[in-house]
Amino acid sequence: MNECPWKLACVDCSAEYSGLAVRFRCDCGATLDVVHDLNLLKDGLTLNTFDRRLASKQIWDRSGVWRFSELVLPLDPKEMVTKPEGNTNLYASARLAEYTGIESLLLKHEGENPTASFKDRGMTVGVSMAKKLGMQSVACASTGNTSASMAAYSAQAGLRALVFIPEGKIAYGKLSQALAYGAKTIQIAGDFDIAMQLVEQVCADQGIYLLNSINPFRIEGQKAIGFELLQDLSWEVPDWIVLPGGNLGNSSAISKGLGELETLGLIKKLPRMAVIQAAGANPLYTAFSTDKDLVPVQNADTIATAIKIGNPVSWRKSLRGIAATNGLVEQVSDQEIMDAKAQVDAAGIGAEPASCATVAGAKKLVERGVIKKDEKVCGILTGHLLKDPDAVVGYHKGTLDNIESNFQNAPISVPAELEAVLKAISD
Ligand SMILES: Cc1ncc(COP(=O)(O)O)c(C=O)c1O
Ligand SMILES: [Zn+2]
Repeated sequence: MNECPWKLACVDCSAEYSGLAVRFRCDCGATLDVVHDLNLLKDGLTLNTFDRRLASKQIWDRSGVWRFSELVLPLDPKEMVTKPEGNTNLYASARLAEYTGIESLLLKHEGENPTASFKDRGMTVGVSMAKKLGMQSVACASTGNTSASMAAYSAQAGLRALVFIPEGKIAYGKLSQALAYGAKTIQIAGDFDIAMQLVEQVCADQGIYLLNSINPFRIEGQKAIGFELLQDLSWEVPDWIVLPGGNLGNSSAISKGLGELETLGLIKKLPRMAVIQAAGANPLYTAFSTDKDLVPVQNADTIATAIKIGNPVSWRKSLRGIAATNGLVEQVSDQEIMDAKAQVDAAGIGAEPASCATVAGAKKLVERGVIKKDEKVCGILTGHLLKDPDAVVGYHKGTLDNIESNFQNAPISVPAELEAVLKAISD
């Protein structure tokens, strides 16, 4: 155990554990960080190391996670369960620049990962660790994307996968993936927060490896969104990174990773991080605005089902990262999310509702004068448009409850006659 180059440390007290311990919480109950010995990395690791790997044909260099393995987890390539992931596009759009009021807005589309969400970056690391630790079964509670990703990676690794989902509350694209990749899918008659409590208990009781973002190795993989984003920008740090917040693993991960790059002297400043929550699932927004500990939101509700979470596991880590980057938390309504989504989709980029909280939040922060129009802003789109086709069709048909279809593109039904078709396409 001594030779393990990383360790686990409590976010709240001074306790430390072996890097190979199968545990997800400190004895005090708080969550754990993976801590690397950055002193070991100070000599020899340069940004060139990562850039050189872009030309490599090795699958671990082609992965947008394992390319940064020194900073993520220094596993042997034989231990990596990779597809590979990452290498997602960074889009500019005149339409979205105008919509948000930000001249230099770039959107990194994490929906372009192998299972169509950012979760693959954490999952490649989490599933690799499950294998390394000799686990037979893995489990997660999910609003959909984690289960899709875990199901695919555990199928690849030959592990038994159990997913706990809130019944009737996840988008069909995601449910289809969990079923198709062969995960045993348990639909809980309750919300995500209840499913999360249950999966933690089941894993502790049955010796099953927990692969929610409470698993600190998932967070290490998700850091690579920030690394790859900076690499896309030739290591020039933007003014802002904007992203949606649900269980808050992603914001915790990106700020942790960029903080480590800064500690190593590989970047000279940090971008400010803006975490955007849905107004109906906004416990971090309230905690941040009132400068208090997080109080869970009961019966969290939003059309953006991926972030319909009232009791986020990683809130402490997330607030720590927001403070370190001089960041902030904003909230947006479902109407703002769906209108922003219509714009992201019509720009030819497309993303699922939760992802578009990013664009809705960036627009709002410009309107509030927090983000300046000439600042360089990078938004993270976390999941693919096709994850939630019901939200798209409902918006454009005008059938969503309590949502105005302000940018509607409704399908037109016509009789099967040339004249009717010509009339329909003429206006
Ligand atoms: C598409 C999408 N966006 C955002 C999030 C929120 O990420 P986090 O839980 O890391 O805050 C999720 C989580 O499931 C998601 O699936
Ligand atoms: Zn502790």
